[in-house]
Amino acid sequence: MNSRDFSGIEQMLGHVDQLPTLPAVYKRLQQMLTDPKVSAREVGAVIEQDQALAAKLLKVVNSSYYSFPRQVTTISHSVVILGFNEIKHMALSVSLLKMFGNARAGTLFDQSGFWKHSLGVAVCAGAIGRKAGPAKCPSHEEAFVAGLLHDIGKIIEDQFLHDDFVLVLREQKKQDVRLIEAEKRILKNTHQDFGAFLAHKWRLPAILESTIGFHHDPLRVQDSESEFAMTSIIHCANIIARALAIGTGGDPYVPRLEHQCWEFLDLGTDDLEPIVDESAGVFNDMAKLLLEG
Ligand SMILES: [Fe+2]
Ligand SMILES: [Fe+2]
Repeated sequence: MNSRDFSGIEQMLGHVDQLPTLPAVYKRLQQMLTDPKVSAREVGAVIEQDQALAAKLLKVVNSSYYSFPRQVTTISHSVVILGFNEIKHMALSVSLLKMFGNARAGTLFDQSGFWKHSLGVAVCAGAIGRKAGPAKCPSHEEAFVAGLLHDIGKIIEDQFLHDDFVLVLREQKKQDVRLIEAEKRILKNTHQDFGAFLAHKWRLPAILESTIGFHHDPLRVQDSESEFAMTSIIHCANIIARALAIGTGGDPYVPRLEHQCWEFLDLGTDDLEPIVDESAGVFNDMAKLLLEG
C-alpha cells in the first residue's frame, strides 16, 4: 500500500479521544474468520447477538441488490450463500448505517444527503464490480463497503473539526470551488486524509484504507493492482452517483473522470447504461431499507 504519514492529522485530532469506534460485531467477525475451522452457524450466532442488525441484514440479503430466486430466512443460511468474508463486509455496512445513517439534514452540511450519496456510491460500486468481473473485483461486498466509507473523512471533519469545516463549507460557496479545494485551503488536508486515518485506526484492510485515501487521485495508487482496481471502482462509482444526483457531495460539481480507471476495469461505453440502470433501481430499495428506519 502507498503508505501515508498521519502525523499531521494526528496532531489536528490529537485532543479527540472520541473518534467513532469500529462496530463490535465486525471486530468479532474479523477475529473469528482467522480460524479456518469456524462454521457458518458460529458466524451466524455472532451476528444474531444483535437482533436488529440480524433482521436488517436478512432484509438486505433478500433485497433486489442480490435478487436471489428464493427467500433466505436465516442468518446462517445467508452466511452459506454469500460466504464468510462477504457477510462480514455486509455486516460492517449495515452496522455503519445503523450507527450513522439516521442523520438529519443540516443547514450547512447535509448529513442526510451525505449518507444518501455514500449509499449511492456503495450500490453503484457493487454494480461496477459485477460488470468488471471477479478478476478485477473479487468481492462485491468489499466494493459496497468501500463505497459506503469513501467520504467518511467528511464526518470526521464535521464532528471533530467543526469550526474549520464550517469555514471550508463557506469557502466552497463563496469562491465557488470544489469542496476538496476548499479543504486544502483551510484544513491543509482533505476528507481523503481524514478518512484514511480513520480506516488506519480501525485497522481496516489496506485495500479500504487505500481506496478511501485516494478515490479522487486514483492514479496515485501504484503499488498494488487489487488496490488500484478497487480505487478505480470507487472513483467511477462516485462520479456516477454524483452525475445521477443521488444525495449530496458538498459541492455542485461532478468530479473529473480518470479514463484510465474505467479502462483498467475493462469496461466500455456500452457498460455505462446497465450500470446506471441497476444502480438507480437498487438504490431506491436499499435506501428504504437502510436509511429510513
Ligand atoms: Fe470524496
Ligand atoms: Fe463522494
